[in-house]
Amino acid sequence: MIRTPGADLERIQTPHVREDDDAEQSLRPRRLDEFVGQPALKAQLDVSIKAAAARGEALDHVLLAGPPGLGKTSLARIVAEELEVPFVQTAGPALERKGDIAAFLTDLEPRSVFFVDEIHRLPRAVEETFYPAMEDGELPITFGVGAGAKVVTLPIPPFTLIGATTRAGLLSTPLRDRFGIQHRLDLYDADELAAIVARSAHVLGVQVHMDGARAVAERSRGTPRVANRLLKRVRDFAQVHGDGTVDATAAYTALDAMGVDHEGLDRLDREILTVICDRFGGGPVGLSTLAVAVHEEQDTVEDVYEPYLLQRGFILRTPRGRCATPHAFRHLGLEPPSDPAGLF
Ligand SMILES: Nc1ncnc2c1ncn2[C@@H]1O[C@H](COP(=O)(O)OP(=O)(O)OP(=O)(O)O)[C@@H](O)[C@H]1O
Ligand SMILES: [Mg+2]
Repeated sequence: MIRTPGADLERIQTPHVREDDDAEQSLRPRRLDEFVGQPALKAQLDVSIKAAAARGEALDHVLLAGPPGLGKTSLARIVAEELEVPFVQTAGPALERKGDIAAFLTDLEPRSVFFVDEIHRLPRAVEETFYPAMEDGELPITFGVGAGAKVVTLPIPPFTLIGATTRAGLLSTPLRDRFGIQHRLDLYDADELAAIVARSAHVLGVQVHMDGARAVAERSRGTPRVANRLLKRVRDFAQVHGDGTVDATAAYTALDAMGVDHEGLDRLDREILTVICDRFGGGPVGLSTLAVAVHEEQDTVEDVYEPYLLQRGFILRTPRGRCATPHAFRHLGLEPPSDPAGLF
């Protein structure tokens, strides 16, 4: 059972966004054994879910951290599905006042999963309201102000808070410490992504050869959401230029045409590297300068682009800013300076 307050709002979107959104829903793995990769996290969740279910208790609170598109929301839904309990979803910025939390929590069925996306964006006062709810099953609500103020304690049914964040570092320690299960999702390797592409192709009814799935996987920057998006575009290409079968040739041709290169870097990745290498001689460049130079939000550069560039050894984060590695220079066809920032 899935109840999503605010779902009506989410529906008011452009048709283009909706097509991809609906496809994303249909491609979501529903059960833990359909969820590819992240073996340590899956094993831990599997044990905890079985133990909680056997005891008839709510699962311990779960914190999922990691870059966008790695499966945090999918996992939260899977946990509810596996526990056979309701899934209630909101996001940090939507909980503006303590009353917003009270409305959600007092209404939960016992053992429900309460999913708070972008939990690092909870206002601090609201965050503090969570502490007694998470620990003691109660919610103190203050009525009135000053000397006449009264505190009423509302009982909260036992529930599982699942928090998702792209920025675990921004969470306060008291909040983080209240999660019994904490995990960071890592970028996926090419084998895992190929398995995800093959599964998605099956769901979408697309014929895909294993070398085609691998070709898409290799250029998906370690991210299932990107893999699914590229698969759909490659499918379109294969449909128009061939018989609809996704093999390596179709995949490489389509990906090249989309500007996704053999390292999986897209136009903006290369622009980031070009700014650091070309305009700033290899760096260091501050994040805000970099974001302005590529006309992107700072958060987007940091959350979406940097993790992959760092993982693949294109850039380094230093206290003074971002530096390009010799690998980045070579990827752009430039001669690396002897040692740009005294780092190598
Ligand atoms: N491990 C996985 N196995 C199969 N498919 C996956 C996996 N992880 C993610 N996906 C696919 O990627 C899509 C994006 O995943 P999801 O929405 O769960 O990511 P997220 O971490 O919540 O991202 P965001 O931070 O942007 O909210 C899903 O619709 C699903 O199809
Ligand atoms: Mg999500």
